[in-house]
Amino acid sequence: MIAKRPPMGWNSWNTFGKDINETLVFEIADIMVKEGYLEKGYEYLVIDDCWALKERDAEGNLVPDPEKFPHGMKYVADYVHNAGLKIGIYSCAGILTCAGYPSSYDHEYEDARLFASWGIDFLKYDFCNFPQNADCKTRYLTMSMALKATGREILFSACNWGREESWSWMRSIGAHMYRSTGDIFDNYRSFINIFQSQVEHLCQSGPYCFNDLDMLTVGMYNQGNVAVGKPCTENEYRMQFTLWCLVGTPLFIGADLRSICPKLKDMLQNKALLEIDQDEESRPPYLVSKRSVHVPVSDEERKTAIEPLKRIGGQLLTFLKILSDFEFVIAYYNLHTDEHEILCSFADAGIPLASGYGLSMTDVFTGENIGVVNDYHKVSVTGHDCRLYRCKMVKIDA
Ligand code: GLA
Repeated sequence: MIAKRPPMGWNSWNTFGKDINETLVFEIADIMVKEGYLEKGYEYLVIDDCWALKERDAEGNLVPDPEKFPHGMKYVADYVHNAGLKIGIYSCAGILTCAGYPSSYDHEYEDARLFASWGIDFLKYDFCNFPQNADCKTRYLTMSMALKATGREILFSACNWGREESWSWMRSIGAHMYRSTGDIFDNYRSFINIFQSQVEHLCQSGPYCFNDLDMLTVGMYNQGNVAVGKPCTENEYRMQFTLWCLVGTPLFIGADLRSICPKLKDMLQNKALLEIDQDEESRPPYLVSKRSVHVPVSDEERKTAIEPLKRIGGQLLTFLKILSDFEFVIAYYNLHTDEHEILCSFADAGIPLASGYGLSMTDVFTGENIGVVNDYHKVSVTGHDCRLYRCKMVKIDA
Protein backbone atom coordinates (compact mmCIF):
# COMPACT_ATOMS: atom_id res chain seq x y z
CA MET A 1 0.00 0.00 0.00
CA ILE A 2 1.47 3.38 -0.93
CA ALA A 3 0.88 6.87 0.48
CA LYS A 4 -0.52 5.72 3.79
CA ARG A 5 1.54 8.58 5.24
CA PRO A 6 2.51 11.84 3.49
CA PRO A 7 5.03 10.77 0.80
CA MET A 8 8.62 11.99 1.25
CA GLY A 9 11.54 12.44 -1.11
CA TRP A 10 13.58 14.81 -3.24
CA ASN A 11 12.62 16.58 -6.48
CA SER A 12 14.95 18.09 -9.08
CA TRP A 13 12.91 21.14 -10.07
CA ASN A 14 13.52 23.74 -7.35
CA THR A 15 17.28 23.74 -7.67
CA PHE A 16 18.08 22.30 -11.07
CA GLY A 17 15.19 23.11 -13.43
CA LYS A 18 16.23 21.90 -16.89
CA ASP A 19 19.85 21.19 -15.84
CA ILE A 20 19.36 17.57 -14.93
CA ASN A 21 21.27 14.46 -15.96
CA GLU A 22 22.14 10.93 -15.01
CA THR A 23 25.24 11.88 -13.00
CA LEU A 24 23.27 14.33 -10.87
CA VAL A 25 20.57 11.74 -10.21
CA PHE A 26 23.16 9.15 -9.17
CA GLU A 27 24.94 11.61 -6.88
CA ILE A 28 21.70 12.62 -5.20
CA ALA A 29 20.66 8.98 -4.83
CA ASP A 30 23.97 8.15 -3.14
CA ILE A 31 23.64 11.09 -0.74
CA MET A 32 20.02 10.25 0.11
CA VAL A 33 21.22 6.88 1.28
CA LYS A 34 24.63 7.71 2.81
CA GLU A 35 23.53 10.82 4.65
CA GLY A 36 20.49 9.34 6.32
CA TYR A 37 17.63 10.84 4.28
CA LEU A 38 16.28 7.47 3.18
CA GLU A 39 16.44 6.12 6.70
CA LYS A 40 14.33 9.07 7.88
CA GLY A 41 11.69 8.34 5.22
CA TYR A 42 12.74 10.37 2.16
CA GLU A 43 12.34 7.48 -0.26
CA TYR A 44 11.33 8.97 -3.64
CA LEU A 45 13.86 10.57 -5.98
CA VAL A 46 11.80 12.52 -8.51
CA ILE A 47 13.07 13.73 -11.89
CA ASP A 48 10.88 16.72 -12.80
CA ASP A 49 10.34 18.40 -16.20
CA CYS A 50 12.93 18.55 -19.03
CA TRP A 51 14.12 14.92 -19.08
CA ALA A 52 12.77 14.11 -22.57
CA LEU A 53 13.52 15.05 -26.14
CA LYS A 54 11.22 17.61 -27.72
CA GLU A 55 9.77 15.01 -30.10
CA ARG A 56 8.30 11.55 -29.59
CA ASP A 57 9.91 8.73 -31.62
CA ALA A 58 8.40 7.11 -34.73
CA GLU A 59 6.31 4.76 -32.55
CA GLY A 60 4.95 7.69 -30.56
CA ASN A 61 7.02 7.03 -27.44
CA LEU A 62 8.54 9.68 -25.21
CA VAL A 63 12.34 9.60 -25.50
CA PRO A 64 14.76 10.46 -22.67
CA ASP A 65 17.22 13.11 -23.87
CA PRO A 66 20.35 11.06 -24.75
CA GLU A 67 22.65 13.91 -23.75
CA LYS A 68 21.17 14.00 -20.25
CA PHE A 69 20.33 10.33 -19.85
CA PRO A 70 22.64 8.45 -22.27
CA HIS A 71 21.73 5.02 -20.93
CA GLY A 72 17.97 5.61 -20.90
CA MET A 73 15.55 5.69 -17.99
CA LYS A 74 15.47 1.99 -17.13
CA TYR A 75 19.18 2.22 -16.35
CA VAL A 76 18.56 5.25 -14.12
CA ALA A 77 15.64 3.53 -12.39
CA ASP A 78 17.78 0.42 -11.78
CA TYR A 79 20.51 2.53 -10.17
CA VAL A 80 18.03 4.32 -7.93
CA HIS A 81 16.34 1.04 -6.98
CA ASN A 82 19.67 -0.62 -6.21
CA ALA A 83 20.40 2.24 -3.84
CA GLY A 84 17.18 1.31 -2.02
CA LEU A 85 15.13 4.29 -3.23
CA LYS A 86 12.08 4.67 -5.45
CA ILE A 87 12.10 6.72 -8.62
CA GLY A 88 9.68 9.37 -9.85
CA ILE A 89 9.24 11.02 -13.22
CA TYR A 90 7.20 13.90 -14.62
CA SER A 91 4.62 14.42 -17.31
CA CYS A 92 1.70 16.72 -17.88
CA ALA A 93 -2.03 16.52 -18.62
CA GLY A 94 -1.71 19.11 -21.39
CA ILE A 95 -0.30 19.06 -24.93
CA LEU A 96 3.16 20.17 -23.80
CA THR A 97 4.80 20.23 -20.39
CA CYS A 98 5.34 23.56 -18.65
CA ALA A 99 8.84 23.75 -20.12
CA GLY A 100 7.58 22.85 -23.61
CA TYR A 101 8.32 19.11 -23.84
CA PRO A 102 5.87 16.52 -25.21
CA SER A 103 3.21 15.66 -22.72
CA SER A 104 0.63 12.95 -22.10
CA TYR A 105 -2.67 14.44 -23.33
CA ASP A 106 -4.23 11.68 -25.47
CA HIS A 107 -1.16 9.49 -24.80
CA GLU A 108 -2.07 8.54 -21.23
CA TYR A 109 -2.14 4.77 -21.60
CA GLU A 110 0.98 4.42 -23.76
CA ASP A 111 3.00 6.77 -21.55
CA ALA A 112 1.89 5.00 -18.37
CA ARG A 113 2.95 1.68 -19.94
CA LEU A 114 6.34 3.13 -20.88
CA PHE A 115 6.89 4.51 -17.36
CA ALA A 116 5.96 1.15 -15.84
CA SER A 117 8.33 -0.67 -18.23
CA TRP A 118 11.18 1.50 -16.93
CA GLY A 119 10.28 0.67 -13.33
CA ILE A 120 8.91 4.09 -12.41
CA ASP A 121 7.27 4.31 -8.95
CA PHE A 122 5.91 7.86 -8.93
CA LEU A 123 4.39 10.18 -11.54
CA LYS A 124 4.09 13.92 -11.06
CA TYR A 125 1.39 15.05 -13.46
CA ASP A 126 1.29 18.76 -14.27
CA PHE A 127 -1.34 21.04 -15.84
CA CYS A 128 0.33 23.35 -18.41
CA ASN A 129 -0.94 23.73 -21.97
CA PHE A 130 -4.20 22.02 -21.15
CA PRO A 131 -6.67 22.23 -24.08
CA GLN A 132 -9.48 24.70 -23.39
CA ASN A 133 -12.24 22.31 -24.36
CA ALA A 134 -10.86 19.36 -22.35
CA ASP A 135 -12.21 18.35 -18.97
CA CYS A 136 -9.69 18.56 -16.16
CA LYS A 137 -11.23 15.91 -13.88
CA THR A 138 -11.63 13.39 -16.72
CA ARG A 139 -8.02 13.83 -17.81
CA TYR A 140 -6.60 13.32 -14.34
CA LEU A 141 -8.88 10.31 -13.91
CA THR A 142 -7.68 8.94 -17.28
CA MET A 143 -4.03 9.06 -16.24
CA SER A 144 -4.91 7.58 -12.86
CA MET A 145 -6.67 4.66 -14.57
CA ALA A 146 -3.82 4.30 -17.08
CA LEU A 147 -1.41 3.91 -14.16
CA LYS A 148 -3.70 1.33 -12.57
CA ALA A 149 -3.86 -0.56 -15.88
CA THR A 150 -0.08 -1.12 -15.76
CA GLY A 151 -0.49 -3.29 -12.67
CA ARG A 152 2.51 -1.52 -11.14
CA GLU A 153 2.16 0.43 -7.91
CA ILE A 154 2.84 3.97 -9.14
CA LEU A 155 2.17 6.89 -6.83
CA PHE A 156 0.04 9.45 -8.68
CA SER A 157 1.08 12.98 -7.76
CA ALA A 158 -1.50 15.19 -9.46
CA CYS A 159 -0.39 18.78 -9.90
CA ASN A 160 -3.24 20.93 -11.19
CA TRP A 161 -2.47 23.84 -8.84
CA GLY A 162 -5.81 23.58 -7.05
CA ARG A 163 -7.95 24.18 -10.15
CA GLU A 164 -11.64 23.31 -9.85
CA GLU A 165 -11.21 23.03 -6.06
CA SER A 166 -9.06 19.96 -6.53
CA TRP A 167 -9.15 19.17 -2.80
CA SER A 168 -12.80 18.17 -3.22
CA TRP A 169 -12.32 15.50 -5.94
CA MET A 170 -8.70 14.35 -6.19
CA ARG A 171 -9.23 11.54 -3.69
CA SER A 172 -12.08 10.16 -5.78
CA ILE A 173 -10.05 10.00 -9.01
CA GLY A 174 -7.25 8.02 -7.34
CA ALA A 175 -4.56 10.65 -6.77
CA HIS A 176 -2.22 9.94 -3.85
CA MET A 177 -1.28 13.60 -3.48
CA TYR A 178 -2.39 16.77 -5.22
CA ARG A 179 -0.71 20.13 -5.57
CA SER A 180 -3.21 22.68 -4.43
CA THR A 181 -1.51 25.96 -5.35
CA GLY A 182 0.73 27.64 -7.89
CA ASP A 183 4.48 27.17 -7.65
CA ILE A 184 6.53 27.83 -4.56
CA PHE A 185 9.42 30.28 -4.82
CA ASP A 186 12.32 30.55 -2.46
CA ASN A 187 11.06 33.47 -0.37
CA TYR A 188 9.07 34.00 2.80
CA ARG A 189 5.94 35.48 1.23
CA SER A 190 5.61 32.59 -1.21
CA PHE A 191 5.47 29.81 1.38
CA ILE A 192 3.30 31.84 3.77
CA ASN A 193 0.84 32.51 0.92
CA ILE A 194 0.69 28.83 0.07
CA PHE A 195 0.06 27.82 3.67
CA GLN A 196 -2.56 30.51 4.26
CA SER A 197 -4.44 29.64 1.09
CA GLN A 198 -4.81 25.98 2.11
CA VAL A 199 -5.29 26.04 5.85
CA GLU A 200 -9.06 25.93 5.44
CA HIS A 201 -8.99 23.20 2.77
CA LEU A 202 -7.18 20.48 4.63
CA CYS A 203 -9.94 18.35 6.06
CA GLN A 204 -10.02 16.06 3.01
CA SER A 205 -6.26 15.57 3.15
CA GLY A 206 -5.33 12.30 4.80
CA PRO A 207 -4.07 8.75 4.34
CA TYR A 208 -3.77 7.70 0.68
CA CYS A 209 -4.48 11.21 -0.70
CA PHE A 210 -2.66 14.25 0.66
CA ASN A 211 -2.91 17.95 -0.09
CA ASP A 212 0.56 18.84 -1.38
CA LEU A 213 1.83 22.32 -0.50
CA ASP A 214 4.69 21.93 -3.06
CA MET A 215 8.34 21.05 -2.79
CA LEU A 216 10.28 22.58 0.09
CA THR A 217 12.76 25.37 -0.53
CA VAL A 218 14.41 24.81 2.88
CA GLY A 219 18.17 25.19 2.58
CA MET A 220 18.21 26.64 -0.94
CA TYR A 221 19.22 30.17 0.07
CA ASN A 222 18.27 31.34 -3.40
CA GLN A 223 20.59 28.92 -5.19
CA GLY A 224 18.71 27.53 -8.13
CA ASN A 225 15.70 27.58 -10.29
CA VAL A 226 13.03 29.09 -8.00
CA ALA A 227 15.12 31.93 -6.58
CA VAL A 228 12.81 34.92 -6.64
CA GLY A 229 12.89 37.82 -4.21
CA LYS A 230 14.65 37.95 -0.89
CA PRO A 231 16.17 34.66 0.29
CA CYS A 232 14.74 33.12 3.46
CA THR A 233 16.55 33.32 6.78
CA GLU A 234 17.18 30.22 8.83
CA ASN A 235 14.19 31.11 11.05
CA GLU A 236 11.96 31.44 8.00
CA TYR A 237 13.05 28.02 6.77
CA ARG A 238 12.15 26.71 10.24
CA MET A 239 8.68 28.23 9.80
CA GLN A 240 8.31 26.66 6.38
CA PHE A 241 9.34 23.19 7.46
CA THR A 242 7.27 23.15 10.64
CA LEU A 243 4.19 24.47 8.80
CA TRP A 244 4.55 21.66 6.25
CA CYS A 245 4.87 19.17 9.14
CA LEU A 246 1.85 20.58 11.00
CA VAL A 247 -0.25 20.25 7.86
CA GLY A 248 0.97 16.70 7.32
CA THR A 249 1.76 17.46 3.70
CA PRO A 250 4.17 15.49 1.47
CA LEU A 251 7.79 16.45 2.15
CA PHE A 252 9.86 16.77 -1.01
CA ILE A 253 13.20 18.46 -0.53
CA GLY A 254 14.14 20.85 -3.33
CA ALA A 255 17.62 21.87 -2.17
CA ASP A 256 20.91 20.55 -3.54
CA LEU A 257 21.70 17.80 -1.03
CA ARG A 258 25.36 17.92 -2.06
CA SER A 259 25.81 21.35 -0.52
CA ILE A 260 22.97 21.96 1.97
CA CYS A 261 24.16 23.45 5.27
CA PRO A 262 24.42 20.93 8.13
CA LYS A 263 21.97 22.81 10.36
CA LEU A 264 19.15 22.69 7.82
CA LYS A 265 19.99 19.12 6.90
CA ASP A 266 19.52 18.27 10.58
CA MET A 267 16.19 20.06 10.61
CA LEU A 268 14.97 18.16 7.54
CA GLN A 269 15.89 14.98 9.38
CA ASN A 270 14.59 16.06 12.81
CA LYS A 271 12.81 13.05 14.28
CA ALA A 272 10.33 15.02 16.40
CA LEU A 273 9.21 17.13 13.42
CA LEU A 274 8.97 14.19 11.04
CA GLU A 275 6.82 12.35 13.58
CA ILE A 276 4.38 15.27 13.50
CA ASP A 277 4.22 15.23 9.69
CA GLN A 278 3.89 11.46 9.54
CA ASP A 279 1.40 11.08 12.40
CA GLU A 280 -0.94 8.17 11.82
CA GLU A 281 -4.16 10.17 12.09
CA SER A 282 -3.04 12.90 9.65
CA ARG A 283 -5.27 15.56 11.17
CA PRO A 284 -4.80 19.10 9.91
CA PRO A 285 -3.87 21.83 12.40
CA TYR A 286 -6.73 23.65 14.11
CA LEU A 287 -6.36 27.44 14.16
CA VAL A 288 -6.83 28.26 17.85
CA SER A 289 -6.32 31.98 17.48
CA LYS A 290 -5.15 34.70 15.18
CA ARG A 291 -4.47 38.23 16.28
CA SER A 292 -4.10 41.35 14.12
CA VAL A 293 -6.09 41.22 10.94
CA HIS A 294 -3.79 42.77 8.43
CA VAL A 295 -0.81 41.08 6.78
CA PRO A 296 1.34 43.94 5.48
CA VAL A 297 3.00 43.24 2.17
CA SER A 298 5.84 45.43 0.93
CA ASP A 299 5.95 46.51 -2.71
CA GLU A 300 8.84 44.18 -3.34
CA GLU A 301 7.02 41.24 -1.77
CA ARG A 302 3.89 42.08 -3.73
CA LYS A 303 5.86 41.74 -6.98
CA THR A 304 7.22 38.36 -6.05
CA ALA A 305 4.06 36.91 -4.54
CA ILE A 306 2.87 33.96 -6.59
CA GLU A 307 -0.73 35.05 -6.90
CA PRO A 308 -3.22 36.96 -4.78
CA LEU A 309 -4.18 34.07 -2.55
CA LYS A 310 -6.81 34.27 0.12
CA ARG A 311 -5.22 34.96 3.48
CA ILE A 312 -6.37 33.74 6.84
CA GLY A 313 -5.30 37.08 8.31
CA GLY A 314 -3.56 37.60 11.62
CA GLN A 315 0.12 37.77 12.25
CA LEU A 316 0.33 35.94 15.55
CA LEU A 317 -1.04 32.48 14.97
CA THR A 318 -1.62 29.65 17.41
CA PHE A 319 -2.41 26.14 16.22
CA LEU A 320 -3.42 22.93 17.94
CA LYS A 321 -2.64 19.71 16.13
CA ILE A 322 -4.22 16.58 17.52
CA LEU A 323 -1.89 13.60 17.13
CA SER A 324 -2.53 9.93 17.68
CA ASP A 325 -1.95 8.29 21.09
CA PHE A 326 -3.38 11.17 23.15
CA GLU A 327 -0.66 13.63 22.19
CA PHE A 328 -0.94 17.16 20.83
CA VAL A 329 1.14 19.96 19.39
CA ILE A 330 0.67 23.60 20.29
CA ALA A 331 2.44 25.77 17.72
CA TYR A 332 3.01 29.52 17.67
CA TYR A 333 3.91 31.55 14.57
CA ASN A 334 4.99 35.17 14.56
CA LEU A 335 4.49 36.71 11.12
CA HIS A 336 5.72 40.10 12.29
CA THR A 337 9.35 40.97 11.66
CA ASP A 338 9.91 41.89 15.34
CA GLU A 339 9.58 39.86 18.53
CA HIS A 340 6.09 39.37 20.04
CA GLU A 341 4.44 37.48 22.85
CA ILE A 342 1.86 34.97 21.70
CA LEU A 343 -0.71 33.56 24.04
CA CYS A 344 -2.72 30.38 23.84
CA SER A 345 -5.87 30.37 25.93
CA PHE A 346 -6.42 26.69 26.64
CA ALA A 347 -10.20 27.24 26.69
CA ASP A 348 -9.89 28.09 22.97
CA ALA A 349 -8.00 24.82 22.52
CA GLY A 350 -10.81 22.86 24.18
CA ILE A 351 -9.28 22.64 27.67
CA PRO A 352 -10.94 25.23 29.92
CA LEU A 353 -9.55 25.58 33.44
CA ALA A 354 -12.79 24.17 34.86
CA SER A 355 -12.10 20.88 33.07
CA GLY A 356 -9.44 20.13 35.66
CA TYR A 357 -6.86 19.39 32.97
CA GLY A 358 -3.64 21.03 31.91
CA LEU A 359 -0.89 20.23 29.44
CA SER A 360 2.55 18.85 30.11
CA MET A 361 4.57 20.71 27.44
CA THR A 362 7.88 19.79 25.83
CA ASP A 363 9.68 22.20 23.50
CA VAL A 364 10.07 20.32 20.21
CA PHE A 365 13.34 22.08 19.32
CA THR A 366 15.17 21.92 22.66
CA GLY A 367 13.54 18.80 24.13
CA GLU A 368 13.03 20.73 27.39
CA ASN A 369 9.91 19.84 29.38
CA ILE A 370 8.47 23.04 30.84
CA GLY A 371 6.16 21.19 33.24
CA VAL A 372 2.38 21.17 33.49
CA VAL A 373 0.67 24.34 32.34
CA ASN A 374 -3.02 25.16 32.75
CA ASP A 375 -5.47 27.87 31.71
CA TYR A 376 -3.10 29.56 29.26
CA HIS A 377 0.44 29.50 27.95
CA LYS A 378 2.39 32.46 26.68
CA VAL A 379 5.69 32.58 24.85
CA SER A 380 7.87 35.20 23.28
CA VAL A 381 8.68 34.48 19.63
CA THR A 382 11.26 36.38 17.58
CA GLY A 383 10.20 37.91 14.26
CA HIS A 384 9.40 35.45 11.45
CA ASP A 385 9.88 32.48 13.71
CA CYS A 386 7.92 29.80 15.54
CA ARG A 387 7.82 27.68 18.70
CA LEU A 388 6.35 24.20 18.89
CA TYR A 389 5.45 22.17 21.97
CA ARG A 390 4.54 18.53 22.11
CA CYS A 391 1.89 18.12 24.80
CA LYS A 392 0.08 15.54 26.89
CA MET A 393 -3.09 16.16 28.91
CA VAL A 394 -2.62 15.91 32.66
CA LYS A 395 -5.24 15.98 35.42
CA ILE A 396 -4.51 18.93 37.70
CA ASP A 397 -7.16 18.77 40.42
CA ALA A 398 -7.06 16.39 43.36
C1 GLA B 1 5.02 23.68 -13.12
C2 GLA B 1 4.97 22.94 -11.79
C3 GLA B 1 6.36 22.94 -11.16
C4 GLA B 1 7.36 22.29 -12.10
C5 GLA B 1 7.35 22.99 -13.45
C6 GLA B 1 8.18 22.26 -14.50
O1 GLA B 1 5.28 25.02 -12.97
O2 GLA B 1 4.02 23.53 -10.95
O3 GLA B 1 6.34 22.27 -9.92
O4 GLA B 1 7.06 20.92 -12.24
O5 GLA B 1 6.02 23.10 -13.97
O6 GLA B 1 8.16 22.89 -15.74
